[in-house]
Amino acid sequence: MARAKTAYACTECGGQSSKWQGQCGHCGAWNTLVETIVAPAAARFQAVSGTAAEVRPLPNVEARADPRAATGLEEFDRVLGGGLVPGGVILLGGDPGIGKSTLLLQAMAAIGASRRSLYVTGEESPEQVALRAQRLGLVNAPVELLAEVQLEAIVGAIRTRRPEVVVIDSIQTLYTEALESAPGSVAQVRECAAQLTRLAKQSAITVLLVGHVTKEGAIAGPRVLEHIVDTVLYFEGDPHSSFRLVRAMKNRFGAANELGVFAMTERGLKGVANPSALFLSRHAEPVPGSCILATVEGSRPLLVEVQALVDVAQAGAVPRRLAVGLDAQRLALLLAVLHRHGGVETASLDVFVNAVGGVRIAEPAADLAILMAINSSLKNISLSTKSIVFGEVGLAGEIRPVQRGQERLREAAKLGFRVAVIPAANRPKHAIDGIEVIAVDRVGEALAQLRR
Ligand SMILES: Nc1ncnc2c1ncn2[C@@H]1O[C@H](COP(=O)(O)OP(=O)(O)OP(=O)(O)O)[C@@H](O)[C@H]1O
Ligand SMILES: [Mg+2]
Ligand SMILES: [Zn+2]
Repeated sequence: MARAKTAYACTECGGQSSKWQGQCGHCGAWNTLVETIVAPAAARFQAVSGTAAEVRPLPNVEARADPRAATGLEEFDRVLGGGLVPGGVILLGGDPGIGKSTLLLQAMAAIGASRRSLYVTGEESPEQVALRAQRLGLVNAPVELLAEVQLEAIVGAIRTRRPEVVVIDSIQTLYTEALESAPGSVAQVRECAAQLTRLAKQSAITVLLVGHVTKEGAIAGPRVLEHIVDTVLYFEGDPHSSFRLVRAMKNRFGAANELGVFAMTERGLKGVANPSALFLSRHAEPVPGSCILATVEGSRPLLVEVQALVDVAQAGAVPRRLAVGLDAQRLALLLAVLHRHGGVETASLDVFVNAVGGVRIAEPAADLAILMAINSSLKNISLSTKSIVFGEVGLAGEIRPVQRGQERLREAAKLGFRVAVIPAANRPKHAIDGIEVIAVDRVGEALAQLRR
């Protein structure tokens, strides 16, 4: 096959150079040049609909929600926003060994009965995939396998076999003949994903791409991958526990931040339909430094234990601040608020905070729980095991309301919690059975709840 003409483009400024250089000649950035194809513009940027585009008034365009194909894995369908959409491209990222291939094999097996599917394995041999299928009890699953890493061959197979759903495991193993760069390089990953996306849109095929995650937690390869695809899903979870979370970071066909919860078993991933109590460690006795947060993940409330450990820093060492599953920047900010508005000094102390069970919490509604856990550890006084907390903390020391307060309270009451420390503006109009609400306006008021 004739190589396409290639050039090197800067990922920072877009400037082009004819050969690779360490430094971009246009903007001066280092190590930003990436091989790209210089093809006739018409072939590179075809209209996604396949036909020549025409200008139409919006009211004349029929609003059409594509029918969704449920995968049969309820929790997976939930994160997808109801199922697979024809022409949709989904990127599934996650740490090595977390269960990406397992999930997609299970999904293909379930969907294979009603739709023709193709599983392209670039990492494992068909025998290895068969071994997994055997363990999962899916030996007779109607899934077609293709062990191939060359993009042109894969596209050829898709065109002749006409599957409706294609899995690429993984995008980092693919390469196109058109580029000289090695498989897994930014240039290859980007080009292969772009070509597969174009094919998906033209032929209304659903494409699921497995993406590896770098040490920093981003999908290896360019960030642009996240812009090319319609849906970005991330696997999360503590590798030492059996629970696995799949989160939608972006979804053009559904709500972002939706969460699917699974348990990894010998026979594969099993959906956990009612996960709200999963992230509690259930201490028999109250312990200092533990505070239960009522959070909302996607469409449902979750109760998560937030733990803090505050200890004297080593003499002469810079005090450490470490956040696991919580935002480290936010922690620094909260410690400053705690000092200025709560009168609690932590400048010479190590502060560690952790969200139990490997769940990652990004919402600011966790602020108050983090503060109360830190204060509890510092004072060595435990909070009641029957209490929950939520609320955003402002820089002025105010407790700000959060979304969906009622739902959080109801879920907590359902799970047997008796007291809730919440923002004053979230106070429910009508009392919720079984739970006493302590509405607070200021950080100081919240910290004073410690002895209850
Ligand atoms: N015999 C078994 N019993 C129970 N669980 C198993 C067994 N074999 C494998 N597993 C689970 O399956 C996981 C591997 O899943 P899988 O291969 O789907 O991960 P992956 O995300 O595709 O990994 P990679 O990044 O290496 O492709 C293991 O980490 C383990 O938790
Ligand atoms: Mg795999
Ligand atoms: Zn540049």
